[in-house]
Amino acid sequence: MESQTIASEIHSDNYRFLQQHVYSQAGIVLEDDKHYLFESRLTPIVRQLGLGSINDLCALLRATCEPEVGRQVVEAMTTNETYFFRDPAHYDAIRTVLLPRLKEERRDLKKLRFWSAAASTGQEAYSLAMLLLQEGLGDWNIDVLGTDFSSQVLERARSGKYQQIEVNRGLPAALLVKYFRRSGVDWQLSDTVRRMVHFETIDLRKSMRALGPFDLVFCRNVMIYFDADTKKNILRELHGTLFRGGWLLLGGVETAFGVEEWFERQAVGNAIVYVAR
Ligand SMILES: C[S@@+](CC[C@H](N)C(=O)[O-])C[C@H]1O[C@@H](n2cnc3c(N)ncnc32)[C@H](O)[C@@H]1O
Repeated sequence: MESQTIASEIHSDNYRFLQQHVYSQAGIVLEDDKHYLFESRLTPIVRQLGLGSINDLCALLRATCEPEVGRQVVEAMTTNETYFFRDPAHYDAIRTVLLPRLKEERRDLKKLRFWSAAASTGQEAYSLAMLLLQEGLGDWNIDVLGTDFSSQVLERARSGKYQQIEVNRGLPAALLVKYFRRSGVDWQLSDTVRRMVHFETIDLRKSMRALGPFDLVFCRNVMIYFDADTKKNILRELHGTLFRGGWLLLGGVETAFGVEEWFERQAVGNAIVYVAR
């Protein structure tokens, strides 16, 4: 294949255009020092479209407003890093405290609803589903919703197929053996787990109340990309999707600061959880 040289320097007006584009489409704030990130993530799109530089890509976007290319650019700029049982203290809190309470409260109905907002490639939603099975909720009516802005990552999530390197991250060997089978060089998650989870494309900045009510919502490692106003609006919406007393779990470096009106911050073991008022 002929190798194509891509001019890497992004003109300052195009840099601002790209920042604005990603912000308006997904709410993601990319500061002025993210040149390397734009270059490494957008160069494959430039190549694929047969263009000469990221400046050409900006010219195309400005001239035609190609929605598909515009979306591809935003999806390329989102960080999709995730892995099974990320932040184990959260799963310990669910197993030891939150779930026993929910089991008691819902013992008649035997119905629970969970949401992995910003689900990326699905490891968070599936980790929770496996934990629920391990805790004996196989005969309950369980619904785990996984949502993300990016339809590309959700396609992977729906497939339930993971590479060796992905199952090596955070997934206990016993659960790999129990819930996955080999599929060529990859690992395929069992239908028992996949049936408990479904995925939808959803922008967290949109109204989300109709999705609820949920018993527990994960919204982890995504708020860090938003500005204060966006974050506050999202936290208000998340509150509206939870049952009163339901739990919100945020990422390790994220806080629901200034939202005492909606949530009470509680320590459960080594985890911090936010209880909906
Ligand atoms: C770093 S991943 C977090 C995955 C998982 N929650 C975890 O903690 O492992 C962040 C995800 O947020 C998604 N995202 C970014 N902006 C979003 C938005 N406005 N609405 C919904 N999802 C968004 C990205 O597509 C990405 O998959």
